[in-house]
Amino acid sequence: MKLCFATNNLHKLKEIQALLGDQFELVTLSDIGCETDIPEPFETIAENSAAKAKYVCDHYGINCFADDTGLEVTALDGEPGVYSARYAGPQRNADDNIGLLLDNLSTKSDRSARFLTVITLVTDGKYQQFEGTVDGHIISEKRGSNGFGYDPVFMPNGFDRTFAEMTLDEKSLLSHRARAFAGLVGFLKQL
Ligand code: IMP
Repeated sequence: MKLCFATNNLHKLKEIQALLGDQFELVTLSDIGCETDIPEPFETIAENSAAKAKYVCDHYGINCFADDTGLEVTALDGEPGVYSARYAGPQRNADDNIGLLLDNLSTKSDRSARFLTVITLVTDGKYQQFEGTVDGHIISEKRGSNGFGYDPVFMPNGFDRTFAEMTLDEKSLLSHRARAFAGLVGFLKQL
């Protein structure tokens, strides 16, 4: 089956293609000629993930899946959430985002947070969602240089290292995204 993964991140695409095997031919947004910055107008990760998948399906008539991720911080009522990429502004800069997050948490004692990934799969007009989470807390200074986004300040529960201090293989064993994709891959392999 040919399936569009609503991304242009070739690294993500390669990882998922390897998990799925030859039974599925994955293509990216550019492969199907979609150059649009697909709108993500909603207040929840699940709705934005569905909106991306629906956009691709409606405009290009191809079966597809889309992922959306956010960091939800308890003491900030779930922020940055859907605004994770552009928390400190449209420049989408990870250092700026972390700076703002640490400022906003400076007076809070509860540092608990989680990452949430929701994947929406549309096959023949049918919608399915797969969710993955990882619980942890936000430390007060950046540690580590691996990964991206909020990794230098996110320490998963049960570990004394941030995601940015882990190798990609270590992070992949417990990450929100890996858990959500495990659900998707399990489902697709049964089709
Ligand atoms: P996306 O939906 O995968 O594009 O993620 C949205 C934003 O969430 C990213 O721009 C990052 O700021 C943040 N984010 C997503 N996944 C991770 C992660 O694994 N580590 C750290 N930050 C992440």
